[in-house]
Amino acid sequence: MFDDSKLTSIRKDYPILQREIEGHPIVYLDNAATSQAPMCVVKAIEDMYFHHRANVHRGVHTLSGEATDMVEATREKVRAFINAASVEEVVFTRGTTGAINLVAATYGDRLCNGDEIILTTMEHHSNIVPWQLIGKDKRIRIRVVPINDAGEVNLDEYADLFTEQTRFVALAHVSNVLGTINPVKEMIAIAHQHGVPVLIDGAQAAPHIAIDVRDLDCDFYAFSAHKMYGPTGVGVLYGKKFRLNSMSPYQGGGEMIGTVSFERTTYAELPFKFEAGTPDYVGIAAFGTALDYINELGIDNIAAHERALVEEATRGLLTIDGMRIFGTAENKAGVISFLVGDINSYDMGLLLDKLGFEVRTGHHCAQPLMNRYGVQGMVRASFAAYNTLDEVHRFVEAVRRVSTMF
Ligand code: ALA
Repeated sequence: MFDDSKLTSIRKDYPILQREIEGHPIVYLDNAATSQAPMCVVKAIEDMYFHHRANVHRGVHTLSGEATDMVEATREKVRAFINAASVEEVVFTRGTTGAINLVAATYGDRLCNGDEIILTTMEHHSNIVPWQLIGKDKRIRIRVVPINDAGEVNLDEYADLFTEQTRFVALAHVSNVLGTINPVKEMIAIAHQHGVPVLIDGAQAAPHIAIDVRDLDCDFYAFSAHKMYGPTGVGVLYGKKFRLNSMSPYQGGGEMIGTVSFERTTYAELPFKFEAGTPDYVGIAAFGTALDYINELGIDNIAAHERALVEEATRGLLTIDGMRIFGTAENKAGVISFLVGDINSYDMGLLLDKLGFEVRTGHHCAQPLMNRYGVQGMVRASFAAYNTLDEVHRFVEAVRRVSTMF
């Protein structure tokens, strides 16, 4: 994990970590919802507004050229970050949700009554509801991969779900609740044996583990900048070129066209065919800075750091009477969800907040997963590169203290 001097220097990048809540130093443990942004990212936003603000891909003037170059530089950084073959395979969206909806709406066009889609029990609502929306006028069957109590899928049970009618698989790389890192490479290979394409929801993976879309061989991969030390409102859809080329545009508007007449419109080449309207070019430019920031820290170093924090949190929390930890997979990223006795997750979260600890509570946009464990909600702590072992120790003691108040 990062040593103390490295952590001190990392934490200097985040003025928000100096805040206090009700007289207590803030301990930000809701990184799976949104990470904080370092000063370099905020400065990149400021620099764009102060010096380069102009619409992209639309002007011959200097400012438009500069803004366009900055957006396209980020596209190349994203390509390198996930090892895509080409920038044509990198589409900017407003987030993971936007990316999944794009695929569900466009790829989903071709699904017919009786077709089947495979999802896992641990999907976020963003990777359930878009598939139900395409099925609302058709009888599309969603088949669900079960999980064991530790929060792991079984590859044989998954393979058994494929039938002649299976048309698509969509699954989380990392569960936002359990932290489970799914064996997506193997799951993709099984789907491909059946000729079925796969979308990976990488929202909780891209900030925490190295992603190589060519090694995974996924057809689509979706993730969000705001969980990656980046700005809000920006996401990425990676898609294999031949898949994206085979899909209709998602939305119509400026910049996604080749030519337009009232009789007929032709569409722009990839990736612009899927980028109708003015994009969040300020956010996209600043996302490039966030990727530089992650690369400087090293994604493997971040993963090791967060893993050490989760292990320490697990050890500590398990010393508390009545503690139930959800998600004990062998292969797990920086998230820990739990309940203590019959204490409601909201009550626990509200009292932890009064002590300065910012955690997420409730169903975590994963109600089917809550049903699987027979609970209404859970308390979740999720880690980032700037969290420390000392914070983990104080968190464990705060949970212990709150638990005795009921
Ligand atoms: N998907 C985000 C979370 O799990 C919002 O908190």
